[in-house]
Amino acid sequence: AKKAVLGPLVGAVDQGTSSTRFLVFNSKTAELLSHHQVEIKQEFPREGWVEQDPKEILQSVYECIEKTCEKLGQLNIDISNIKAIGVSNQRETTVVWDKLTGEPLYNAVVWLDLRTQSTVESLSKRIPGNNNFVKSKTGLPLSTYFSAVKLRWLLDNVRKVQKAVEEDRALFGTIDSWLIWSLTGGASGGVHCTDVTNASRTMLFNIHSLEWDKELCEFFEIPMKILPNVRSSSEIYGLMKAGALEGVPISGCLGDQSAALVGQMCFQDGQAKNTYGTGCFLLCNTGRKCVFSEHGLLTTVAYKLGRDKPVYYALEGSVAIAGAVIRWLRDNLGIIKSSEEIEKLAKEVGTSYGCYFVPAFSGLYAPYWEPSARGIICGLTQFTNKCHIAFAALEAVCFQTREILDAMNRDCGIPLSHLQVDGGMTNNKILMQLQADILYIPVVKPSMPETTALGAAMAAGAAEGVGVWSLEPEDLSAVTMERFEPQINAEESEIRYSTWKKAVMKSMGWVT
Ligand code: G3P
Repeated sequence: AKKAVLGPLVGAVDQGTSSTRFLVFNSKTAELLSHHQVEIKQEFPREGWVEQDPKEILQSVYECIEKTCEKLGQLNIDISNIKAIGVSNQRETTVVWDKLTGEPLYNAVVWLDLRTQSTVESLSKRIPGNNNFVKSKTGLPLSTYFSAVKLRWLLDNVRKVQKAVEEDRALFGTIDSWLIWSLTGGASGGVHCTDVTNASRTMLFNIHSLEWDKELCEFFEIPMKILPNVRSSSEIYGLMKAGALEGVPISGCLGDQSAALVGQMCFQDGQAKNTYGTGCFLLCNTGRKCVFSEHGLLTTVAYKLGRDKPVYYALEGSVAIAGAVIRWLRDNLGIIKSSEEIEKLAKEVGTSYGCYFVPAFSGLYAPYWEPSARGIICGLTQFTNKCHIAFAALEAVCFQTREILDAMNRDCGIPLSHLQVDGGMTNNKILMQLQADILYIPVVKPSMPETTALGAAMAAGAAEGVGVWSLEPEDLSAVTMERFEPQINAEESEIRYSTWKKAVMKSMGWVT
């Protein structure tokens, strides 16, 4: 059959906590042409620990690339049109590997992991109350969430890691670094780098000077020689060394939440998006200035789209558990067989009937930053059934978003008039309607919800030396939006929200 004629194409790896995807876009229309997705295993070796296998993650990337290329072939699309690849990834998750063998020296310690709680407590005591240099340099509270403490744990507890550091064979990286190093050749010439957005999640990176910070590395006792080179989010890092796309440049790299901000075209000061993945992350672009929150939000690097381009910052509200609660209902309670089934259950009842579910599995993140919290389901009666619990789980995602939106509005002064959303869970219409009801503002969803991958593809396609994507907003004018308007009355919305807050208070202080 005759091959379809298209403009240049750009591929994007979206390596999230729950799954890996590879997607291919037309750089002229931003149309998604094909994709493939593979679920990633999570291991819970002890209470509070969350690990993944870095090799499985890498393998899943190769598999997604190969399968997507096959699908493109079936559509008669020539894969030699793919001119660049972008990488977006779950942030903070920490890997240490051997640069001579390419072997990881331990499992990846996932961002949700809580094993470093006591490390965090003892380090906190060493930060002067009147000079929180960790916060002022990194924009982050000292928390188990970020990479520095996970890396500290690996250096303290894994003999293989200690030995490799002594012998100068160890490399550290977040998932982006691990993937880019491996995909560009690994032990035979792989490029050891990260981008400013991922670096800003390690707690070792100075978000003002855009460099690894010596004082922070000393504080966490991290040897600087194992850290990757920090690059912009859009430049050629290296070429694919193997597989169907061998020779194609990898030229975009963004932490997944930054990628979604770019993919949603939130380039102006005050524009915000909320992505529903494993967790849920609301980011608001604050332009060229670092804004520090007074209401529990993080300050983070939004993007820097080119070596000579300026850096943009964002305020971020991070919620640890969103999609993860649905996976928990599937894998741990078995009340649904597939994630999609949750919508059916919730629809059957249309209310939680007074049941509230606070999924504080990894403590509570923004705006509380409360590691002592644990999950609770409360307000149960003999009438309560699995449908109500399913509904309460969806509502929990919406209430948590409301909490971070409130904090964002307080910090920014100007309340958001609507919420731009994306991510896998936004296909759930009940969730979207509930979100509009609970926020009491319209929720707006692009018809193509894969904006994380789109953002990474945009960064890759726009890189110097690639130049197949222009970052002008009109590029996405063809994207249609779905809008959800609040349908309950404001009073009812407030009553439900205040009961949620009561439930949150009950979830705190479980672990001392
Ligand atoms: O900070 C963690 C975040 O990057 C994870 O994203 O999409 O796996 O929920 P996701």
